[in-house]
Amino acid sequence: MPIEEEIRRLKEERRALLLAHNYQRPEVQDIADFVGDSLYLSRKAMEATEPVLLFAGVRFMAETAKILNPEKTVLLPDLKAGCALADSITVEQLRTWKAEHPGAAVVSYINTSADVKAESDYCCTSSNAVKVVGGLPPEQEVLFLPDMFLGEWVRQRTGRKNIHLWAGDCPVHAKLRPEDLQKARAEHPGAEVIAHPECGCGSATLPHVDRILSTDGMIRYAEETRAPETLVATEIGILHRMRRMNPGARFLPLSEGAVCPFMKEIDLEDIRRSLAENRYVIEVPADIASRARRALDRMVAA
Ligand code: 13P
Ligand code: SF4
Repeated sequence: MPIEEEIRRLKEERRALLLAHNYQRPEVQDIADFVGDSLYLSRKAMEATEPVLLFAGVRFMAETAKILNPEKTVLLPDLKAGCALADSITVEQLRTWKAEHPGAAVVSYINTSADVKAESDYCCTSSNAVKVVGGLPPEQEVLFLPDMFLGEWVRQRTGRKNIHLWAGDCPVHAKLRPEDLQKARAEHPGAEVIAHPECGCGSATLPHVDRILSTDGMIRYAEETRAPETLVATEIGILHRMRRMNPGARFLPLSEGAVCPFMKEIDLEDIRRSLAENRYVIEVPADIASRARRALDRMVAA
């Protein structure tokens, strides 16, 4: 039996919902019930009626789904699917930083561990970071973590001076530099350029970027654009969906090397085994989950 069929059979047997991030392998995206960005997938996890959620993404996404759905079984097919950005701050480092800024609001990007979320006042994703920070009292100091490029973009978009940034970054996006953009622009003079706010080139002040968008923002852009050619500055997994959305347009990666090894850990065989053998079940200790839930509820509501 072809593996896709076997996965569909197991999915039905287990009553599992398969959620996949926009950066997953094309064949994984194609078999998923829902494909999207972190915010969309968190909302889909909350709406799910199935008792089992299989997360084809990275660990912090599966942990988030578990915190939002404590009664469900959440499966991550490969435990090597971590996130270098999430690993750039520990809970101890956050506690020390908070002690240096008493009274500051802590806004954590969803790309963080559950215990860092538990020490946070708000979570956000790239889709709603500007909205979450913009909604805080103007006089309140903000500690934004862990991505400094996303944080700098939020600082510019909100015009806030009292926002402190953690010096973390995503190695996949940080290596996309303004020089790469300038070179690509010279090679494709008519192309539009869209970039994820985690990019090292992602400052809104740079004249080389037409739009800064979350991954779901990029999907909506693909649906609507009339530009014949677009350079896409993010992880290349997203091109699969963009091209399907709009086969008449050309979507090119800013760099073929923008590949997240963590997002590519999961393949169809991992998914099959995950459903067949109930592995790997993601658990979050109850005390951490209940404190992290407050910050995540605010993210989902924003
Ligand atoms: P999105 O929330 O835009 O999908 O981004 C998640 C991520 O890991 C980006 O590197
Ligand atoms: Fe983490 Fe970067 Fe991979 Fe996103 S692309 S999962 S931020 S390492």
